[in-house]
Amino acid sequence: MYNPPELKDLVERAIINLSYNSEAGKLIDPVKYILSIGGKRLRPVLALIACNLFNDKVDEAVLPAAGLEIFHNFTLVHDDIIDQALVRRNFPTVHAKWNVNQAILSGDVMAFIANDCILQTPSRCLSKVFRVFNKAAIEVCVGQQLDIDFEKATIVSKDEYLRMIELKTGALMAASAKIGAIIGGADDKDSELLYDFGRNLGLAFQMQDDILDVYGDTKVFGKVQGGDIVTNKKTFLLVKALEIASVEQFKLLQEQISQKEFDPETKIKKVTELYDQLNIKSTTENVANGYINTAFDLLEKIGVSRERKMELAQIANSLIGRNH
Ligand code: IPE
Ligand code: IPE
Ligand code: MG
Ligand code: MG
Ligand code: MG
Repeated sequence: MYNPPELKDLVERAIINLSYNSEAGKLIDPVKYILSIGGKRLRPVLALIACNLFNDKVDEAVLPAAGLEIFHNFTLVHDDIIDQALVRRNFPTVHAKWNVNQAILSGDVMAFIANDCILQTPSRCLSKVFRVFNKAAIEVCVGQQLDIDFEKATIVSKDEYLRMIELKTGALMAASAKIGAIIGGADDKDSELLYDFGRNLGLAFQMQDDILDVYGDTKVFGKVQGGDIVTNKKTFLLVKALEIASVEQFKLLQEQISQKEFDPETKIKKVTELYDQLNIKSTTENVANGYINTAFDLLEKIGVSRERKMELAQIANSLIGRNH
């Protein structure tokens, strides 16, 4: 069996060895850039570990796994336009370094390069894998649209929030684990368990991302702090704060959310103070840990030896309290 750093290395090499259409130079520079400035490679590693659960060889899954990472990076390039984010992985975002139109088009190109990689799936399971991938790809877009719609909504329920992150983040992690399992030769029951495992990791992962947006160390997290507060993102922190706030605190939060013109630093400071008063960080951590525990329960049910599941358990554990 392989360990996660070895699997990450396989993905990294596949990404470096990609060949590009030479005519597409202007659109390829941003692709090469975003793929070269780091990133945890969580989704492809998840896919390869899932494959490795059932199969000692993972080579057949490496290019499809790279495709999942490239698709993820496409969503980030467009997400940064949507969220008006200027820094990612401690580097300027693509639209900040080039411009919005080039970021849209090079993002589009990346989505099709991802397709090319997924098409390298062995023919015996290609159509199954492609359907799982395409379903997730559409779900990410639907989740991103909900995320945008919720910026303008006054109140978003916890269930609405959960559905939104299940789509924008859970879907691709779920699909990654399932695709790896399918290529590894898992049966339908285990493939579904891995889908659900990835989905639960995704939910916990997005909640921790919401926490880090407010409380992370910018240098380690690699993104500008407080962006979600400035743009009124209905993160778990805000949804929960609005739910448990006193009448006075609710009024203060609404005041911040409804401001048309404001100083970003002051808004971030005031909202964070309210989060602190309401102990929102640890509430969010507890809920996120609940999803990690559900993932562990699902892992138990997968029909391979406990020993083979160690790497997946390690990945799940590494997400608890992650700082980047
Ligand atoms: C960022 O994903 C987008 C979210 C779903 C929160 P990652 O945190 O996996 O980003 P990289 O690829 O490691 O930079
Ligand atoms: C996740 O949401 C984005 C995608 C699923 C593409 P965020 O907007 O919170 O991601 P970051 O924080 O910018 O990485
Ligand atoms: Mg976003
Ligand atoms: Mg964003
Ligand atoms: Mg975020």
